[in-house]
This record gives sequence, C-alpha cells and structure tokens, in this order.
Amino acid sequence: MVDVKLENVVKTFGDTVALKGINLYIKAGELFTLLGPSGCGKSTTLRIIAGLDFPDSGHIYFGNEDVTYLPSSKRGAVLVFQNYALWPHMTVFDNVAYGLKLRKLPKEEIKRRVEWALELVKLKGYENRYPTQLSGGQQQRVAIARALVVEPKVLLLDEPLSNLDAKLRLEMRSEIRRIQRELGITVIYVTHDQEEAMAISDRIAVMNVGTVEQVGTPRDIYERPKTEFVASFMGKTNVIPAKVVERTGDRVTVEFDGIRLDGLHYTGKEDEVVIVIRPERVKLKPVENAISISGIVDLVEYYGFFIEVVGLFGEERRIIARTISDRDVEGLKPTQPVTFYVNRDDVIILPRQKR
Ligand SMILES: Nc1ncnc2c1ncn2[C@@H]1O[C@H](COP(=O)(O)OP(=O)(O)OP(=O)(O)O)[C@@H](O)[C@H]1O
Ligand SMILES: [Mg+2]
Repeated sequence: MVDVKLENVVKTFGDTVALKGINLYIKAGELFTLLGPSGCGKSTTLRIIAGLDFPDSGHIYFGNEDVTYLPSSKRGAVLVFQNYALWPHMTVFDNVAYGLKLRKLPKEEIKRRVEWALELVKLKGYENRYPTQLSGGQQQRVAIARALVVEPKVLLLDEPLSNLDAKLRLEMRSEIRRIQRELGITVIYVTHDQEEAMAISDRIAVMNVGTVEQVGTPRDIYERPKTEFVASFMGKTNVIPAKVVERTGDRVTVEFDGIRLDGLHYTGKEDEVVIVIRPERVKLKPVENAISISGIVDLVEYYGFFIEVVGLFGEERRIIARTISDRDVEGLKPTQPVTFYVNRDDVIILPRQKR
C-alpha cells in the first residue's frame, strides 16, 4: 500500500500535448478513478504511472520515492489492459504464474501464490483451461489475478470492463471493489463511464483535454461540480446558458430565453454563465424556497424506475424533470401547460466555459 503523487506531469506526442501539467494525489489504499472523454489523456497518465512511458517534465512519486524514471519492473505498479493481453498458448495457471517465474521464485511458492490469486478472483478449478476456453469476464479475472499475484503496490486498471456486456460489467465492478477492499491495495482505475466511476470510486478526477478539471468524492463531483464541463459530463443534466442581469450581495437574477430567475446564489465575476440543475431536483409540485418556470409539456418518457418530463419554456428551452412517482405525471400530456419548481439551493451557477 502506497500513496501516489503526480507533480506537473507534461507529455507531448509530436504536436499533441496529451498532458498539460497534471497534479494528482492518490491516497494509499484508495480506489481512485480517472474519468473523462476519449482522448483526454487517461491512458497516457496511467502508462506514465506504470513506468511504460516517461513524461517530458514533471515527477511521479510512490510514497517518498521519486519513480519518474524507474523501470516498470522496479516500481511495483502493474497495469491491466482493456484487452487483457493474456498469453493464448498458456493455461490459466501459467498465465498467472508468469510474473512469478520471471522472478525465479521457488515452485512451491509459485503454486501457493497462484492458488491464492485464483481464489481471490473466484477462478479456482480453471487452472488448466486456455484463454480461448473462457468467457470475457473470466479472462478479465485471469488478467487481474496475474496482476495481483506479484503483490503490486499499485494496481492500474485501464477500462477493464469495456469489453464485457452490461450485466457482466456490473458484476465485475463489484468484484473489483471487493478485491480492492479485501487487499487494501491502492487502485487507479480508468473509465469514460461516469456511472461506473461513481459506483466504484473513493474519489474521482475528471479530466478534459490533458488537464484535471476537478478531484473529489463521487458525491462532490455530482452535487458540486466546479466547471461547466464537469457538470455536463456527469450524467444527463440541465445545463442552460444564461446571463446575470442583477446582483445583490451573493444573490443574482439571471435571464435566459426571456425567462428571469431571481435569488440564486452566485459569487463568480463572469456574467455569461450556465445554470446547472439535475433533473431529479426539478419538481412537478411546489417546494420550499423555489423558483418556478411555466411552459408546456414536450414529452413524457417512462424509464421503468423513473419517469422524465421534458418541458418546453420561453423560446424553445427544454428542461428535464425526473420523478419516481407515477402520481406526479398523472394526466400530463404533450402540449399541456406545466410548471416546474426547483429549490434555489439546488440551482448551481457556473461561469460559461470558453469554446
Ligand atoms: N503513442 C502516441 N502517439 C501519438 N499520439 C498519442 C499517442 N498516445 C496517445 N496519443 C494522443 O494523446 C492524447 C491522449 O491519449 P490517451 O490515450 O491518453 O487518451 P484516453 O483518455 O485514454 O482516451 P480513450 O478513452 O479513447 O482511451 C490523444 O490525443 C491521443 O491521440
Ligand atoms: Mg485510453
């Protein structure tokens, strides 16, 4: 178990600046996720932590040790790839034993450790199978066992579940969480799936074109996004461009599409803003301390465990409300009048991001 620190890590590939000075602190024993869209630099960051690639400048520390230029085999971080990269001509046992054989450990110890790792990933009894005789999820487990058997200080997982079907993905992500807790190991996990990141992580770093936009617990990131990018990346949400037209202390009045909302908390300097409101915070009945917006129903969508009402307001502004109560939407039909209510404390105003 070790903590990991990245200090001003810069990495370029030709003209592409993949990492623009990344700073991160990952606590010992936490499951830390790098979350962001394709091409934002997640894999590059992971490869640099693994020692499979080196930064142009900046440093990586494991505990107090500067490992920036330490070869991968010497730093005790193991990377599990998206495609598992198992040896097709080796049995499950030999795949998992591979790293231990390289280290020339005694046969008995190798056997003991491989058994331990296979038990951990619930693959006891599969020792003599070949990778082609395993399902995707089982192959993924072998890859994880192979990484864990060398007792790494840090386990790095790059989109480990993206080749699995939806159901197996849910199962495997709980498995990864269980194993991480059982071993108390530091895990750095990469995904572009915000729901997966929220479910599995102690903390998340949201990345955007080579920078880290925000680091926090899943709740922090979801409920208190610090930038427009983070707000809109974390699930389906209402992000409405608006303008600050009045200020009284830390309260403002904003305007969009001919609609004015007053008494909202905002202390930023910029007048060009976005209003962020999570759909589940938009209510179809009056609530305390609320702003209200009246318009017409555009759509009512049934998702099983929740229902969404899309309202149409002002000049073509669509806002989504989400409810788990059938009663809330009883009789609501497209083109009918509707009023949405949002507690002022549930409205987040952020400076509009430059595009
Ligand atoms: N070996 C390379 N040569 C040139 N450019 C590269 C190389 N590796 C990565 N890049 C570029 O660096 C940027 C970051 O790539 P990276 O693979 O880290 O993204 P990512 O966040 O892992 O994306 P994805 O979700 O698609 O895997 C991208 O613009 C990519 O094209
Ligand atoms: Mg990647």
